[in-house]
Amino acid sequence: MKNKDSFGHVRGTSIFVDDVATKQGTLHAVVFDASVAHGKITKVDYSKAELLNDVIKIITYKDIPGINQIGGILPDEPLFAENEVHFNGQPIALIVAKTLAAAKKAKHLINISFKELPVITTAKEAYDKGHFINAARTFNLGDTSKNFKNCTHVFEGKTFSNGQEHLYLETQGAYAYPLENGTIKILSSTQGPTAVQKIAAQVLGVSMHTIEVEVNRLGGGFGGKEDQATPWAVMAALAAQLLHKPVKLILERHDDLRMTGKRHPYESYYKIGLDKDLKIKAFEVKFLQNSGAAADLSPAIAERTLFHATNSYFIPNVKTTVHSCKTNLPPNTAFRGFGGPQGMFVIEAAIANAANKLNIAAHSIQEANLLQENDSFSYGQIAKQVNIGKTWKQVKSAYNFEEKVKEVKNFNNENTLFKKGISLMPITFGISFTNTMMNHARALVHVYQDGSVGVSTGAVEMGQGVNTKMLQVAAMCFGIDPSKVKIETTNTTRVANTSPTAASATADLNGKAVQMACNSIKERLLKVASKQLNSLAKNLTLKDGFVFEGNEQSPISWQKIVQAAFVQRVNLSENAHYATPKIHFDKSIEKGHPFAYHVYGTALTEVTLDCLRGTYEIDAVNIVHDFGKSMNKDIDLGQIEGGLVQGIGWMTMEEISYAKNGRLESSTLSTYKVPDIFSVPKKINTIALETNGSDLAILKSKAVGEPPLMYGIGTYFALENAIKAFNSNYKMKFHAPMTPEKALMGLYS
Ligand code: MTE
Ligand code: HPA
Ligand code: MOS
Repeated sequence: MKNKDSFGHVRGTSIFVDDVATKQGTLHAVVFDASVAHGKITKVDYSKAELLNDVIKIITYKDIPGINQIGGILPDEPLFAENEVHFNGQPIALIVAKTLAAAKKAKHLINISFKELPVITTAKEAYDKGHFINAARTFNLGDTSKNFKNCTHVFEGKTFSNGQEHLYLETQGAYAYPLENGTIKILSSTQGPTAVQKIAAQVLGVSMHTIEVEVNRLGGGFGGKEDQATPWAVMAALAAQLLHKPVKLILERHDDLRMTGKRHPYESYYKIGLDKDLKIKAFEVKFLQNSGAAADLSPAIAERTLFHATNSYFIPNVKTTVHSCKTNLPPNTAFRGFGGPQGMFVIEAAIANAANKLNIAAHSIQEANLLQENDSFSYGQIAKQVNIGKTWKQVKSAYNFEEKVKEVKNFNNENTLFKKGISLMPITFGISFTNTMMNHARALVHVYQDGSVGVSTGAVEMGQGVNTKMLQVAAMCFGIDPSKVKIETTNTTRVANTSPTAASATADLNGKAVQMACNSIKERLLKVASKQLNSLAKNLTLKDGFVFEGNEQSPISWQKIVQAAFVQRVNLSENAHYATPKIHFDKSIEKGHPFAYHVYGTALTEVTLDCLRGTYEIDAVNIVHDFGKSMNKDIDLGQIEGGLVQGIGWMTMEEISYAKNGRLESSTLSTYKVPDIFSVPKKINTIALETNGSDLAILKSKAVGEPPLMYGIGTYFALENAIKAFNSNYKMKFHAPMTPEKALMGLYS
């Protein structure tokens, strides 16, 4: 089934926040933000701006009826700065005007001065000065110090991976309007409607039931709207509350780039020990996460870094520590992979470094250490239904790996100015929110008397196709044509207390709830049919729009059975709740079983490097991926391709740059390059591994949203190998992204 949204997207009829027809009297808002990264506000004068024609009000922290606090995990982030600012781009006030033009003009009439304070932009500086978001976390397995002593080879090193801009096509924004009796309705481009509702209630000083949040769809989120859609929605709601008018706040791209957090840059220090058979016996890492000026989701992201620090390998002795370092950057946040990619980059760098020093190929170390059934992860979960070895083997056989290795060698012997590099990148990614309490969802299903169906869940459609998957689940349960099912907007009054659409788990959690709700209604319908057919309900099913008795189609159509049930006053609606069974985690010992299951896969990447220019092309990325039993191949392949290219962008060309004073230098799309049609791999081949899937995945179709991003890490290592083929003196840097500039420096260093 095609993604339901593809028709509307191509024709331009899909509705995003900025497309919603505005109500009469709608006001427009612009955010006034800090122009320094750290300082005390010594003077601020709004008078000129306030006098401008059409300016209605300039809202500051003083106008907040509730509390000036939006922190999700830790209460350390004001909505509006009070006396100090901690990052360039931090909101200070909201200018509300009759027109957008007036609001923008007023922004330039605000007079503000700061007493500037020292600015920290890197994790290392913050670490050295002891500036942290919270206490460090450490995962321990076995005993590393004892085991390093027994290792034949021990290597140490340092790595860096930079941040990444989400660059969702739809920028952050919200439209809020007062309903009656103090109620405010917020249309928000958020992955977390409940987060918006909760924080809005807190800031506005009202109860959650006073705030209704509705999400139609997002023009991409990629983690950037899990928590960071909240401030803009709350500002719009606050203005609507204070002024009793509809208020629209949509960030312009340039403001969005400057004001919002990104993927966390990480600086990491590792030590890896191997025995003579290349078995990794001990591994230690100290991760320095550049968290930015407030916690946001950093603690949870730091935790997932530890969960994925050994990627797809079994290592018996592990000690990994992560420090969330407080800097003067916008609070960094969730981004596809949620700290996992940053962790995996380090172990892959450690292996590449060891291989380089031992003068062998990295894949021989990778292969010798792949996770096997019943191995333990450092966090105590025992690996089950492990498919990493299968995907690894199949990549090698299906894509003629040994021949490719020879071809690359021959090519590199015959060519001086072009060199090829290859790499293998295995991935193992845990599915579930690492915070166990977040793994639940609800669905509200209505069957209308004409047989059409409306489904509400907590899932937010953001391009990943979750609405299409929910629709498939409902249509399948009822045995009806998908055209009879409509997926409703995500609205906090219909489905409450939702977890954000994140962690790749949305289709699993919400899909299972849809399945439960539909099954309850189906049971009631079949009871009605059993009376009509004089047959036991357990012998009946719904299929192809009819009631079936065994394999026999009965004369009772879906419409007829729905009508009959309605007439007999049978409930045609159901609300169901699903909570992932079996998962748990004890933070006091950092052990447990946090993931419902793992997703596995391996990518073989081939690149060609132009050794005069430092530019490169990705010839092919060949993947074997564990989809389980994919419920929608088109959507899942789209996720593989999109995720992969996003990962390649992070690892090769997307270079975030902050000046020492904390100003974002890569603040336009001419200085921040994302992959385009010319930079994507010339070929992306994906083979679905034949497996059974997992019972905890919806219809055994495994989560697919985040894992493919990490295939992109393979491109970094393929490029390092190509540089090495040209310049045998090259010292691998493990400093991502590998931009053409860096490649060129490497070629001639
Ligand atoms: N795909 C598209 N097109 N747009 C997005 O914003 N977000 C990614 C991934 N794929 C995203 C996407 C992220 S970060 C996550 S966590 C998952 O989708 C969330 O959706 P899921 O749980 O339904 O997979
Ligand atoms: N993944 C993504 N988002 C999250 C998580 C997670 O594990 N925990 C909290 N938000
Ligand atoms: Mo995705 S980073 O969990 O929104």
